[in-house]
Amino acid sequence: MAQIFPPDFLWGAASAAYQIEGAWNEDGKGESIWDRFAHTPGKIKNGDTADTACSFYYRYAEDIAIMARLGLTAARISFSWPRILPQGRESINQKGLDFYNRVIDELLRNKIQPFVTLYHWDLPQALEDLGGWRNRDTAEYFRDYVALVADRLGDRVKHWIVLNEPWMFTMLGHFQGIHAPGLRDPIGALRATHIVNLAQGLAVRALRESRHQAKAIGTAFSICPTHPLTDSANDRAAAERCDKFVNLWFLETVMNGRYPEIGGPIRFEDLADIRPGDMDTVKAPLDFIGINLYTRAIIKHDPKERYLGAKHVQPEGKELTDFGWEVYPRSISEMILRISRKYGRPIYVTENGCSYDDLPDGDGRVRDERRICFLRRYLAEVGRAIEAGADVRGYFVWTLTDNFEWAEGYAQRFGIVYCDRDTQRRIIKDSGYWYARLVQSNQLDDLRLELDR
Ligand code: FCB
Repeated sequence: MAQIFPPDFLWGAASAAYQIEGAWNEDGKGESIWDRFAHTPGKIKNGDTADTACSFYYRYAEDIAIMARLGLTAARISFSWPRILPQGRESINQKGLDFYNRVIDELLRNKIQPFVTLYHWDLPQALEDLGGWRNRDTAEYFRDYVALVADRLGDRVKHWIVLNEPWMFTMLGHFQGIHAPGLRDPIGALRATHIVNLAQGLAVRALRESRHQAKAIGTAFSICPTHPLTDSANDRAAAERCDKFVNLWFLETVMNGRYPEIGGPIRFEDLADIRPGDMDTVKAPLDFIGINLYTRAIIKHDPKERYLGAKHVQPEGKELTDFGWEVYPRSISEMILRISRKYGRPIYVTENGCSYDDLPDGDGRVRDERRICFLRRYLAEVGRAIEAGADVRGYFVWTLTDNFEWAEGYAQRFGIVYCDRDTQRRIIKDSGYWYARLVQSNQLDDLRLELDR
């Protein structure tokens, strides 16, 4: 039996400015926290940087032609805040705006709907110097940047994604220190989460108040089911605390104007510096919810963990991608259904994909069978969630071209298109051709086979 997707279902690929653009200091672009972080020795695997990345800044037309060739109907891209406002505020870099104007026009010319992420982790370094996301003023600078972009490009961009994975960039960047700006400051990290929530609320209002009408505004949340290691009451409670923090800390705030009660050893709200009136600001119900989902997390109770009393356990004996992430297709139907029932909003899968280090064979072809197998199984589960009543409107594979994978540098290849680091040559992988057939037919064959695996 074939799984047929809804007739107007959007099929796309997702990317982020820092991971693909390159041209890190060209045409007036300001430095971002990721430029600074990647230029700091020891932060990125193999000393890689995204100074050149996939050179999308110069090759965007070529990449959009590939998207068109694959038949994609949507593309998720991000705008680099310091390319538009080199200092994060005030003086505008017209060349930066011109670049995004060209990209948007090229997408539309190819009948590809742009979904624009306004913040995919590249904060202007000048704002970091003022305290970054630990500084409440940053929420207002973000609103002003969003208002500017909506004003200049909102005549053509109709789908906005305010933030990419707020939990990831606040926690990995300010608590674990493995992403920019590289801090290990638990209290600062919690304060940052609240200021990011304020920024999200202000930005949604700025988009709604813009002179151009947005069709839909959402955020792309990092979503991951948290499953208890054992059925013990302790492990179950630990998994539930993680779920509330990892999955709901930014969703409950924007949708319902409250923080979830986590109930662990420490009350996070007491540390987050919440001021009178803030909870009205953070509440700005979204038109759609973006789900970025790759895997699940297995959680065990661990009183040594000071904040959540819970620990993430590495899966044993499970199928893993080359990144070491467990392949667990049911995680996507589980979370789509849960979130769509809880919030009653349309869903886009704004990221899903896998890292496999398949290189071109002697004949130049990239036979990435494991990626096809991964995508089929996850997409079968997306189809299953739709059948069970979820209003899923589109799917964005992460990602088009192999690119700069944050702290991992170029060590992880997520693309359905191979990108040669030296020559910048692109080769559509087998998975890319497979995806093109799926997009064209709008149906996934052998659903039963996939679900039975
Ligand atoms: C997500 C990020 C995205 C990409 C994928 C693999 O967490 O949003 O930029 O790196 O992981």
